[in-house]
Amino acid sequence: MTPSAKTTESKTANVITRQSSLSDNKATQESKTISKESKKSTILTPRFYTTDVDAIAALDLKLNEIEVEAICQEFRRDYNKHHFVRNEDFEGVAESLDPDTRQVFMDFLEQSVISEFSGFLLYKELSRRVKTENPLLAECFAHLARDEARHAGFLNKVMADFDLQLDLGFLTANKDYTYFQPKFIFYATYLSEKIGYWRYITVYEYLENNPDKKLSPLFNYFKNWCQDENRHGDFFDALMRAQPQTLRGPISYLWCRFFLLAVFATMYLRDVANTEYYTALGLDPREYDRYVIKQTNASAARIFPVILNVNHPRFYQRLETILNNNQMLSELDNNSKISGPVKLLRKVPLWLSSGFEMTKLFFAAPIATDILCPSVQ
Ligand SMILES: [Fe+2]
Ligand SMILES: [Fe+2]
Repeated sequence: MTPSAKTTESKTANVITRQSSLSDNKATQESKTISKESKKSTILTPRFYTTDVDAIAALDLKLNEIEVEAICQEFRRDYNKHHFVRNEDFEGVAESLDPDTRQVFMDFLEQSVISEFSGFLLYKELSRRVKTENPLLAECFAHLARDEARHAGFLNKVMADFDLQLDLGFLTANKDYTYFQPKFIFYATYLSEKIGYWRYITVYEYLENNPDKKLSPLFNYFKNWCQDENRHGDFFDALMRAQPQTLRGPISYLWCRFFLLAVFATMYLRDVANTEYYTALGLDPREYDRYVIKQTNASAARIFPVILNVNHPRFYQRLETILNNNQMLSELDNNSKISGPVKLLRKVPLWLSSGFEMTKLFFAAPIATDILCPSVQ
């Protein structure tokens, strides 16, 4: 989701530990760290965020305090308090998957648990540090953190069936953090929550109609789960309305476009390049992502002053060109017969092409949302 194209060695590979049983002690867990090839952390992997906490603590909510309070009241009801309970449906499921599907599902679990835990860390930290100056905001962030901890914890329990467990302490201490100023956190987390909602509900509804494709009872939990993410998105919607400067003026318009493009392009490039999970579910990743992007873009029209014209034929053509470039770049990386300088020479036009396509996507004419939703604006 982050705009940074920085590529760093990730510590992710070291935080998933294999256990011989759930009762293993810590020393045993550490001795059974899975030795995977080191993964690269790129814009396409879940990231951890930090922000200017003092600026968040000083936020004045009075322009939209009634709505923020109403959303907080919803959080207090804690609709999913008893939802995330592991049941007997999970017994034997991990063992029943064929080795390839099992691996694909394990990768999905790892990515998901890290995303959820990343949200938990950000919200928990904000809740803790704005408590004195901004108690309403602190309470809302505490509820968000509660939900994300529940999501991450539930995924972690499912991972235990696959002899995997995320070392949350290690992850907290060692993960690289990306700094975003508060208004960028609002755009990014709003979109991340809303796109999360659409991803979960779309898979849930598809699997309700195709039960033979349900790899795990985990998917039965998605319906209520996605409502948590939807409420989280609504909270950031209310927060931005309390800070209307985040949604007004030409600079904000550009940032809204930038974050929409960053979130959509990141998801599309990741999902279409890694089709195994979708194939295992019987989904076409292109169709799935295009539907999720269309719906998230429409959701964003309720709050953002502009949205992207994702129906323009060039929108996906340009993303497909970037996908092809990425494919050729990774083939070059894996080709041991070509020397370093030659590889570099061949990579430059691919990087330039992708940069050109992203620039064209960014400057493509957006859609003003006051035309779509005049009552909201
Ligand atoms: Fe979540
Ligand atoms: Fe969330």
